[in-house]
Amino acid sequence: MSQVLVASNRGPVSFSLSEDGELAMRRGGGGLVSGLAAVTGAPRDPGPPRPAQQAEAPSSAADVLWVCASLGEGDRTAARRSPDGRIDLAGYDTGGAAVRMLDIPEATFDRAYNGVANSTLWFVHHLLYDTPRSPHFDARARRDWQSYEAYNAAFADALARDASHGAKAAIQDYHLSLAPRMLRDRRPDLRIVHFSHTPWAPPEYFRLLPDDIGAQVLMGILGADHAGFLTERWASAFLDCCELLPGARVDRSAWTVTCAGHTTHVGVHGLGVDEAALRKRASQQDVVERARALKEQVGDRQLIVRIDRTELSKNIVRGLAAYREMLVNHPEWRGRVVHLAFAYPSRYDLPEYREYTAAVQRMAAQITEEFGTAEWDPLILQVNDDYPRSLAAYGLADVLLVNPIRDGMNLVAKEGPVLSEQGCALVLSREAGAASELSEDALMVNPYDVSQTAETLHQALLMPRGLRSERCARLAAAAAALPPQRWFADQLAALD
Ligand code: G6P
Repeated sequence: MSQVLVASNRGPVSFSLSEDGELAMRRGGGGLVSGLAAVTGAPRDPGPPRPAQQAEAPSSAADVLWVCASLGEGDRTAARRSPDGRIDLAGYDTGGAAVRMLDIPEATFDRAYNGVANSTLWFVHHLLYDTPRSPHFDARARRDWQSYEAYNAAFADALARDASHGAKAAIQDYHLSLAPRMLRDRRPDLRIVHFSHTPWAPPEYFRLLPDDIGAQVLMGILGADHAGFLTERWASAFLDCCELLPGARVDRSAWTVTCAGHTTHVGVHGLGVDEAALRKRASQQDVVERARALKEQVGDRQLIVRIDRTELSKNIVRGLAAYREMLVNHPEWRGRVVHLAFAYPSRYDLPEYREYTAAVQRMAAQITEEFGTAEWDPLILQVNDDYPRSLAAYGLADVLLVNPIRDGMNLVAKEGPVLSEQGCALVLSREAGAASELSEDALMVNPYDVSQTAETLHQALLMPRGLRSERCARLAAAAAALPPQRWFADQLAALD
């Protein structure tokens, strides 16, 4: 039984299965994993894959249990081979955290994760619907919703079973918006926090959801004692939506919502980076080697870096278009700058993401064709995920471009300045949660305004070295001021 439980769709690690049945472990992806891994001590980047250790009897003394979904055949096999699905990661220096991977039926997982979480709730909170792909809530959407309920119930069951009396459960993100209420119904003795890592939709957009589904999402989160958000803007949008919920009473001054006899406190917990851990990882040999290779490629040119999952909300195509426009308007940069764009694969089961990846590649090819010469590659696009190479690029960047159309926080905007060797200029979208903390020292842009972004990239490249490093030092200090340990401890403390 555990005193502290974390629940999230993606766990801190995932497993791949080789043809001869060997399991190899690797770190899970995404900002949430980075944040939670730092607090539970799970490996942030366990290095090259190595065989999973033999399953051992679960340690009943584990303080922290992380419950997550099995995301593929490797995870499902690891879960089945471990006693009661509980994978003891003691060999990986997890500081006592254990992981339970839930073996959710594939069709249920697909509908809950792809159908509801990533195609519906993610689109609503990031304002991603457009006319050709506006929502269409039909019988199929209802079927997906039932799977989402079943998926949330599987988490609530696991948490209810493993929590000791009065334990704290920290339920993460939009995949699990129903789980807090389901868990409260099963275990009223527990103290429950729900944390949203995404933005929250404004009410007029949230109302795109069918009324009963929207109400269930809100009621689900209101099953928690505390609902946490990354910025005041997202927390406030949540309160705005709750005001539309029949029977809910919102107290703006106390930041509470009372509904069905239960009061939920709403709080803001910003998330930054673990500076010491990040620096330590960046000093390892694999990063140093990649930095050497990148330096050779770039030479003495200035370097504009962007690092994202290939995600619709990250606005990669407009970012590339802005770089192109800068090269058109300021031809003096031709031959003197390189744009390094890392766009790592994401959510490839969804057609929108596959199409988006193709659009990114088309735009990149167009830029290379238009401006490239025998001596100069204006753009290097990399689509294969390589964490040490990302860390190396942070170290070398002169300019870091982070231009999402909407983002809960965005940790790239924080990791970059921390690892920058000579000080980088940060070009940052005003629609990223990080803007609420970094806007004084970043160069802010409207993510839809390609021309403004182009001009801002030009200004960033022109910024004198001294000023760049002064601003970068302040950005790094702001990023390190909210370490994940504190972020998580604050959520738990809010339950006391
Ligand atoms: C965002 C979400 C996380 C998610 C991550 C990666 O950061 O807030 O919950 O894990 O994206 O997305 P994926 O669908 O690959 O888990």
